[in-house]
Amino acid sequence: MTSPSDTPSVETASNSVTVNVDLAERSYDIVICSGQLSAAGTFVAEWLDQRLGASSGQQSALVVTDRNVAGHANVVRDSLAAAGFRVELVELEPGEKTKSLSVISRLYERMVAMKADRRTVVVAVGGGVIGDASGFLAATYNRGVPFVQVPTTLLADVDSSVGGKVGVNLAAAKNLIGSFYQPLGVFIDTAVLSTLPDRDYRSGLAEVVKYGVILDAEFFQFLEQNVDGINAREPAILRHVIARSCQLKADVVKEDEFERTGLRAVLNYGHTYAHAFEALAGYGQLMHGEAVSIGMLYASRLAEKRGLISAEVTSRQRRLLEQIGALTTLPNPAAFSTDDILSKMRLDKKTVGGQLRFILPTKLGHVTTFTDVPESDVTAVVDEFAAE
Ligand SMILES: NC(=O)c1ccc[n+]([C@@H]2O[C@H](COP(=O)([O-])OP(=O)(O)OC[C@H]3O[C@@H](n4cnc5c(N)ncnc54)[C@H](O)[C@@H]3O)[C@@H](O)[C@H]2O)c1
Ligand SMILES: [Zn+2]
Repeated sequence: MTSPSDTPSVETASNSVTVNVDLAERSYDIVICSGQLSAAGTFVAEWLDQRLGASSGQQSALVVTDRNVAGHANVVRDSLAAAGFRVELVELEPGEKTKSLSVISRLYERMVAMKADRRTVVVAVGGGVIGDASGFLAATYNRGVPFVQVPTTLLADVDSSVGGKVGVNLAAAKNLIGSFYQPLGVFIDTAVLSTLPDRDYRSGLAEVVKYGVILDAEFFQFLEQNVDGINAREPAILRHVIARSCQLKADVVKEDEFERTGLRAVLNYGHTYAHAFEALAGYGQLMHGEAVSIGMLYASRLAEKRGLISAEVTSRQRRLLEQIGALTTLPNPAAFSTDDILSKMRLDKKTVGGQLRFILPTKLGHVTTFTDVPESDVTAVVDEFAAE
């Protein structure tokens, strides 16, 4: 496994941090700042020139957003206009249903109507839904046009903006249609998180804790020591939390960009249980991050049972997750029978050859993939939590 990068997140005088996602000619920067959303247009213009060379004519941009973040998207639109772009903005319905081929099809028509060319940049201003859908639009229109993300949820900041997975859902399954398509750059302003609902924020934090557990014990300790700043969404704390999370995910993605070697699977810590919980909870009942938060505790308990870690590793996770307001127990354990959980796990698309695969900690900051975990241990953990 890759060792976590030692690159310190160096802050510049303007209080911004840059993380480079190192992927050969697809490398890009993630700029993380606070209260500088109106600078987004300048960055987009610079990234375009760097990648495609300076333009002779006027460039165009399509800003894709959803109703809940339209205020932030308007700032980005104005900054693009100020940087010389001809800009159009499309506001989609908030929610997972927007990640659909019918929405993409409408967006293709919009690109045609605005006479988009190969320099037309698609700028996603929103959470993971807007990022994934817009990225898929950019990846496929005219066989690929430039793409920039301006994430507005913590989950999009630390997870979906790194790694290039773009796509939409089919009725049969989430994220079934898609591609790997890296953006030209990602512009994160922590100030936009001030309007993010608490539940979404806490849900995103679960993935942040995940990075500490799987890759970086020191970062985990930083989180433990800065619970108040995290809960208050303090800009300087957020910049560090986001930068370190992006760096850690980028280090993994660099080793396994196209999910071929299995290395990228470490990012699925807690997710084998979480996917089963999400599927059984019913639509919209349990947010992804909430399921991951609980799933990590189950996986950690499983690691204890396998003799991989001491109980302290689990209790530290539980304490931290509780302190940052993440969910640590299933809201209605009775709805999650061990048989149902097991059969959902077997259906999970991340199962390899029908074998259950678990990412388990062997110490804080390190995980290993296991495919030989007895189902009796998997279900014993479920029973133990249900009995608590
Ligand atoms: N590409 C990847 O690698 C990757 C990784 C993880 C998740 N995802 C995808 O991301 C999606 C989930 O992303 P998400 O959790 O960001 O959900 P989301 O995009 O649906 O956003 C959650 C809600 O918050 C609202 N919102 C967003 N930013 C806001 C802000 N600053 N203020 C107020 N409201 C705001 C949105 O309108 C929406 O209602 C899923 O579709 C998932 O499949 C992709
Ligand atoms: Zn996740």
